[in-house]
Amino acid sequence: MKHKTSEMLNMLHQEHIVAHLKSLSHDDQLRMVSHIESLDLSVLNDGVMEEERGKFEPLYATTLDDIARNRDHFTETGLEAIRAGKVGAVLLAGGQGSRLGFEHPKGMYRIGIDRELYIFECLINNLLEVTKQAGAWVPLFIMTSVDNNRETREFFEKHDYFGYSDDNVWFFVQEQLPTVDTEGKLMLSGKGTISTAPNGNGGWYASMAKTGMLRIVQNAHIEWLNVFAVDNVLQRIADPCFIGAVIESGKVSGAKVVAKADPNEKVGVLCLEDGRPSIVEYYEMTDEMINRREPDGTLSYNYGVILNYLFRVDKLNRTLSVKLPLHRAFKKISYMNANGEMISPEEPNAYKFETLALDMVKLQDDCLAYEVDRSREFAPVKNKTGVDSVDTARELLKFNGVEI
Ligand code: UTP
Repeated sequence: MKHKTSEMLNMLHQEHIVAHLKSLSHDDQLRMVSHIESLDLSVLNDGVMEEERGKFEPLYATTLDDIARNRDHFTETGLEAIRAGKVGAVLLAGGQGSRLGFEHPKGMYRIGIDRELYIFECLINNLLEVTKQAGAWVPLFIMTSVDNNRETREFFEKHDYFGYSDDNVWFFVQEQLPTVDTEGKLMLSGKGTISTAPNGNGGWYASMAKTGMLRIVQNAHIEWLNVFAVDNVLQRIADPCFIGAVIESGKVSGAKVVAKADPNEKVGVLCLEDGRPSIVEYYEMTDEMINRREPDGTLSYNYGVILNYLFRVDKLNRTLSVKLPLHRAFKKISYMNANGEMISPEEPNAYKFETLALDMVKLQDDCLAYEVDRSREFAPVKNKTGVDSVDTARELLKFNGVEI
């Protein structure tokens, strides 16, 4: 075994991996060493960067009423941008969906009861409404992970892209980071491999750069990218009114937000931090912030983000050199134990390291908070039952007239 590798592992307090390597045959050792060398082990060194937060202030939203008054005008501006080929969409579908506990990519989940209707299909149907209205395709970039890329592509192929134009769809694979157990130890995912997990949804633009997607963006002269999560089945993608509102505002980014259901709702709230747009997590808010109200009675920190953002491409390019903060998420992660048996835990057992798309908002000069009606646009599928689940999403689809 390479002395350098074992030394480095020892330095990082990963002696169990050195011991495991020693138990392997010479060829297997070589393979595993080169696998280890391909990993970004800086997460073990740096750990999670505890972020120093700045001074929070409310950021006021363009409300449903403001939007209603300007709907036609905003929509026309948005449609023009789409027709001019200036708008692309990025579907974040590299997550592991561990809370849902579905064995396949989350988008393959059948949300239809009486008919075949999949999460991916709901999203494409929503996008098709826009492309029909505009009379132009919106280039769609789909971020997958090493684990789910092949199945996702095959699913789209099998279903003829649900009526979308396959010439306008690109898949790209995000990067992985090692996972660690509660003691900070690397875990095995097989005899010769270390367990890794997708590096979070914040790396989407960097991954687009690494995988050559930005060349497509540049060659097509795409100026705006609408990035969104796979799990919201009511998601409006490349929404012309939203795009138009951001363009008309002169701001360089926009975020769809929903008014909080109650002051203590556990959502990240769009606000200002040291004068820049930012998202404050519910657990970072003081009671004073949670309950603060404006003269008209609305909560000052009222608008929760729903992972649907619009970014200007030229401004995104500047973010490529910035290291986003790493967050630790406690998840159910399968691993190989010391006896060589694969264990699939029933409960969260280990940490994965993630960058988050919301941290990219902070890198923008400004951001339009654009209010949407949650009963019309927000039906996330996170869990099997209960809050933000298959059940609640199905009810909301029905409420919006979607046959399931
Ligand atoms: P979540 O934060 O809900 O994570 O992702 P998840 O991995 O899908 O699900 P859980 O937490 O294990 O149950 C929000 C969005 O970000 C995408 C997801 O696919 C989803 O659209 N995502 C998340 C990525 O694309 N890559 C990641 O590494 C993580």
